[in-house]
Amino acid sequence: MEFIREYADWFYLIGAVLFILTLRGLSGPKTAIQGNRYGMIAMAIAVLTTFFVADHPVIWMIVGAMVLGAVVGIARARTVPMTQMPETVALMHSLVGLAAVLIAIAAILHNNQLTALFAENEAALTAAGVEHAHMSKVHLFELFVGCFVGAITFTASVFAYGKLAAKKWAKTISGGWVKPVQVLIFLAMLACGIYFFTTGNMNAFWAMTVLALAFGWVWIAPVGGGDMPVVVSLLNSFSGWAAAGIGFTLENNMLIVAGSLVGSSGAILSYIMCKAMNRSIINVLFGGAMGGTAVAASDNGEKVQRNHRSGSADDAGFLMSNADSVVIVPGYGMAQGRAQNAVKELCEILKEQGVKVRFAIHPVAGRMPGHMNVLLAEADVAYEDILEMDEINSDFPATDVVLVIGANDVVNPAAKDDPSSPIYGMPILEAHKARTIMVIKRSMATGYAGLDNDLFYNDKTMMIFGDAKKVVEDMTKAINGGGH
Ligand code: TAP
Repeated sequence: MEFIREYADWFYLIGAVLFILTLRGLSGPKTAIQGNRYGMIAMAIAVLTTFFVADHPVIWMIVGAMVLGAVVGIARARTVPMTQMPETVALMHSLVGLAAVLIAIAAILHNNQLTALFAENEAALTAAGVEHAHMSKVHLFELFVGCFVGAITFTASVFAYGKLAAKKWAKTISGGWVKPVQVLIFLAMLACGIYFFTTGNMNAFWAMTVLALAFGWVWIAPVGGGDMPVVVSLLNSFSGWAAAGIGFTLENNMLIVAGSLVGSSGAILSYIMCKAMNRSIINVLFGGAMGGTAVAASDNGEKVQRNHRSGSADDAGFLMSNADSVVIVPGYGMAQGRAQNAVKELCEILKEQGVKVRFAIHPVAGRMPGHMNVLLAEADVAYEDILEMDEINSDFPATDVVLVIGANDVVNPAAKDDPSSPIYGMPILEAHKARTIMVIKRSMATGYAGLDNDLFYNDKTMMIFGDAKKVVEDMTKAINGGGH
């Protein structure tokens, strides 16, 4: 125990390096499991070291809380379906926010208690040469920031959880009153915080905390369900900064480093997601409720009749089994239709026929970061067959068949060719460059961005209408029955 106390900073340093290796591992599907292992070891080192370093720890409380947390965590991890991962993550962020608030409150109350005790016994203590160490301004500032960032993170994350889990109480709010109320609450919160910071007035502190809790709600409540993944990623970042704030309060270097890593990686992920959606973070957070239509549809009500070519699953199966190379582009429709296992089977049967099959993944295909990767991993698709947008885009012109399964916006050529399109500038998978294009979807309906897609009217495109799973299964049957 003494040994751990003496070398605590070294243990923390090892933990910090392992956390960095964790992030590095999590950047690719092949290394993700190893990354997770590093994370578990780092967390165990961090928790154990802190446990032994603590001054006068109340053992039963700490062990009790750890056991309770472990039981809830293990139970949730074993039972949560992959599709409920985003809301689970949101709920976990809310706990980090709440912890930041509670620690800030505890630190301030503890300091007030010491001040009162000192005042009561001032004469005796001064005679004995004991001085009361007042909380420094820097410390007060950390507490003030940690507390309001934590409070905002808490209510915003609870709302994000409710929204993603489709709870009745998590209703999207809209109206002209929303923005003025947001600004008013924010300014009032700031004013109370500054007053507390300059005078130490506790009423101002409580008011700031309550206003921050209210702000978290009113800030996130107008954001539509479709934009929640970006919000969750941003809240992930916030929870990291709140944890770093607690690290300063508790003078714990490990928490400062780990919090900063979470804070910056969450911020980078939010930026990448916004860039891939061709949106700015300000537009996502303050653009108002957008739900399923992130970008206004460009047609102003005048529907122009355009021709498209459709075919059957049998035709498509025949064409693919005679191709040299097939690239599959999965999108939200594959997730919605739970078609991943059927897709894996189709991939296997094509490979048996000597066809080179690969998957092309757009960074924001689906509705959450890594959505397609998770589904394909669940279906046991080989990692080496899954390529990111930048890796595959130059291969499309030499590809015989592109099979688009329930994807729409991520293959919309308007993003490249039409400067008037709201998604102009968004990077896309250049499926339109392939020799033959096949698209599985149920109708000619638009996707998330609410835009028509020229790809569906391309001379090289064959639409195969139906539910993704059923159509893919029919394709496999057709190839099984026919073959070369
Ligand atoms: P979308 O553009 O939303 O298109 C999905 C298509 O799938 C729809 O057009 C729909 O057409 C079809 N579909 C739905 N259910 C289906 C089923 N059961 N079987 C067959 N087809 C089905 O999807 P995408 O191309 O993956 O693009 C993702 C969009 O979401 C982007 O605009 C992105 O910015 C946005 N977004 C992404 C994220 C993240 S982090 N991934 C977060 C928020 C927003 P039918 O109705 O005609 O079948």
